[in-house]
Amino acid sequence: MERTLIIIKPDGVQRALVGNVIKRFEARGLRLAGLKLIQIPRALAEEHYAEHKGKGFYEGTVTYMTSAPVVVMVLEGPDAVAASRATMGATNPLNAAPGTIRADFGLNISRNLVHGSDKPETAEREIKLYFQPGELLSYTRAGDGWLKE
Ligand code: CDP
Ligand code: MG
Repeated sequence: MERTLIIIKPDGVQRALVGNVIKRFEARGLRLAGLKLIQIPRALAEEHYAEHKGKGFYEGTVTYMTSAPVVVMVLEGPDAVAASRATMGATNPLNAAPGTIRADFGLNISRNLVHGSDKPETAEREIKLYFQPGELLSYTRAGDGWLKE
């Protein structure tokens, strides 16, 4: 079982797509381990996107991510990181495959609706940025047994 950090970015919240986005991960079988609405403080956004510091889009991304509330969640499941990245689609919605969140709801790389950790090690780091251990729940859903052989 693996965990990943997903953020519904400010454009997703402002465009009232929160339910639509969660629905896709949930329908696929991923299980919510944590969920909350927050406005990301600038220092936290800078820490989250530290790997991109110095790139042309860094300032704009930090401003965008802190501009309005976001929904942060931890999803759990087998290969949760890769599975959720596939459900999200490519970084640029114009290159994302139809049926992915970014393709179906977006057109612009700077307004691409969702964040998802890119590797299991990244997920561990990012989950700690947004959640205290006590905010994450482990449980079994009634339907979980029907998701595997
Ligand atoms: O989010 P993802 O891991 O797919 O892409 P990234 O390369 O790690 O970039 C992080 C975020 O920066 C993207 O999701 C975009 O919001 C933003 N970005 C941008 O606005 N313009 C770019 N040319 C590249 C990234
Ligand atoms: Mg990334």
